Amino acid sequence: MKPQIRDYLASQTAVDEISIKGWVRTRRDSKEFSFIELNDGSCLANIQVIVDASLASYDQIKNISTGAAISVIGKLVESPGKGQRWEVQATEIELLGAAPEDFPLQKKRHSFEYLREIAHLRPRTNTFGAVMRVRSRLAYAIHQFFNDRGFVYLNTPIVTTSDCEGAGEMFQVTTLDLNNPPKVEGKIDYAQDFFGEKTSLTVSGQLEGEIYAQALSDIYTFGPTFRAENSNTSRHLSEFWMVEPEMAFYDLDDDMDLAEEFIKYLFADVLENCTEDMEFFNQRIDKTTLETLQHIVDNQFERLTYADAIHRLEKSTETFTYSVEWGCALQAEHERYLSEKVFKKPIIVYNYPEKIKSFYMKLNEDGETVRAMDVLIPKLGEIIGGSQREENYDILLKRLKDSGLSPEEYWWYLDLRRFGSAPHSGFGLGFERLVQFVTGMENIRDVIPFPRTPKHARF
Ligand code: 4AD
Ligand code: MG
Repeated sequence: MKPQIRDYLASQTAVDEISIKGWVRTRRDSKEFSFIELNDGSCLANIQVIVDASLASYDQIKNISTGAAISVIGKLVESPGKGQRWEVQATEIELLGAAPEDFPLQKKRHSFEYLREIAHLRPRTNTFGAVMRVRSRLAYAIHQFFNDRGFVYLNTPIVTTSDCEGAGEMFQVTTLDLNNPPKVEGKIDYAQDFFGEKTSLTVSGQLEGEIYAQALSDIYTFGPTFRAENSNTSRHLSEFWMVEPEMAFYDLDDDMDLAEEFIKYLFADVLENCTEDMEFFNQRIDKTTLETLQHIVDNQFERLTYADAIHRLEKSTETFTYSVEWGCALQAEHERYLSEKVFKKPIIVYNYPEKIKSFYMKLNEDGETVRAMDVLIPKLGEIIGGSQREENYDILLKRLKDSGLSPEEYWWYLDLRRFGSAPHSGFGLGFERLVQFVTGMENIRDVIPFPRTPKHARF
């Protein structure tokens, strides 16, 4: 394994000869030396490289400017300077790739909006390096969490014929000639399309996840999902990653327990394992980040019914853009008000009206609410949505039809309720919303390498 800059910065001893490669953040010259701050993305900190003007390779120094890629061989020695324990005394430097003056990331701070326009270069900034390292760690922690609990990691399909959320917000997948599609009786003939029927990109792996939970008991999916909803907000993407556990023999309480344990586990993990990057977010992005995460790890989430939530919103003196009454969907402003102002911590709202939730959620005895739950967190609103699933064939059939979906298309989903139907539950966590909350970043477009939003799919 090749040691990286982070390994040398954490070294316990001086090292006679090391080799490092990276990108120059800055260079400063004095009469006898040049000082290079070098970064290879392995950690937030740069390593300082001292290049003696008497070195044979020193003649390249003028081209070793901000953004250049270089290779350095040298000694790792204790640094007399402040702020770092180790520095490198170069014995040999080599310019691998120069970066002329028009390199856009000069030393000043750039706005996140501008950085989105240069998404091919923004990973070389401190903030994006930190976001992507934390994102990677969170993905690892997610797999670890489920693996430790005996869950099977399941890959559900990206191309699908069914609309899990029943909301019709799907991107179509086709190889038909859009200028001249084949038709029968005035309608597009999908029999001639690639898959022989109409297909789309998945909005959720849940339905297929349920199939495997009815065999392996506990599974989870972690993959890309796609939504063609025209939401231009700081918390919506058209392509985002979702984590979806599905558990046989879990009721709604078990589901909420797992969701709470999961979130606390992930927050505790980054607090422990991403200290340098998390300190950075706490200093530069949001000064309450560390405190907020620790507070969430240490305290119980508040659980309240939808009816209770509506009641509290109705009697609040806050002015909302959308008015509230029993039966309405909770808007982000309502979700945030409850978690941020009323409870000041994550809350889980459950037992939503049947009319505003998906067909697959289990109907309560009252006949008008379903066993749905949403985990709502301060600043962001919904981070997890889940439910106990309807396992009764007749009720599910009716709910499917009432939602305008065709029982013929969902025959296999209904079949699961005919053969060994077991109570089961699951939820979906929006991975980017998780990264957004953990890092304190304002906009979800800045926590995914290449955001896709309405009218934006570049890079
Ligand atoms: O609440 P949602 O739509 O639930 C489902 O898709 C279920 N099938 C999940 C399940 O029970 N297996 O989405 C789940 C989560 C939301 O809570 C949110 O965090 C995230 O996915 N999400 C989005 N994240 C970014 N951009 C969007 N457009 C999102 N839509 C949902
Ligand atoms: Mg939801």
